[in-house]
Amino acid sequence: MDFFEVIEQRYSVRAYKRDPIDEQVLRQVLEAARLAPTACNIQPFQLVVVQTAKRQHDLARLYHRAWFREAPLVIGIFALTDRAWARRDGVRYGWVDATIAMDHLILGATALGLGTCWVAAFDPAAAREIFRLPGNVQPVAFTPLGYPADAPPAKSRKPLEELVRYEHW
Ligand SMILES: Cc1cc2nc3c(=O)[nH]c(=O)nc-3n(C[C@H](O)[C@H](O)[C@H](O)COP(=O)(O)O)c2cc1C
Repeated sequence: MDFFEVIEQRYSVRAYKRDPIDEQVLRQVLEAARLAPTACNIQPFQLVVVQTAKRQHDLARLYHRAWFREAPLVIGIFALTDRAWARRDGVRYGWVDATIAMDHLILGATALGLGTCWVAAFDPAAAREIFRLPGNVQPVAFTPLGYPADAPPAKSRKPLEELVRYEHW
């Protein structure tokens, strides 16, 4: 699939088949995240791969929608914010780094015919407990990973004219 086709094809999948994901396919998806750029190449993130069959109760606590735990896997991305690059004014870029890595993963999954859905509306307190997170680790987002059982809706986006300015605000 050509890069722009991948971008076009990606959508938030909210129904999944239970078909397993081949180990090699999972590795390729994770590799897409590994190759993502990060500020100063610090790579201050960790991915957690969860097998949904064994973790239905935990996943229901994390995010209540039933489709979230339908796919064979859920992947979480966590930022090590204290290790991330900091700008002169102190702003740390750990969340940005983690977000870019997750987007690589999601686009890589799309290119391989897999479905994903960004999930940020999870319960952060439940995430801390379920994954036994140390204090410096921030849960950023989760996605199911599996083969789609629905069809993509038409994309709804603002026109470029509403999103882009030139030279000045
Ligand atoms: C940072 C982020 C967080 C999101 N969190 C959720 C979520 O918690 N639950 C959900 O169903 N969709 C979530 N979404 C999916 C968006 O609703 C979706 O991307 C948007 O409506 C555009 O639709 P599309 O992904 O199908 O193109 C999230 C997307 C992003 C980028």
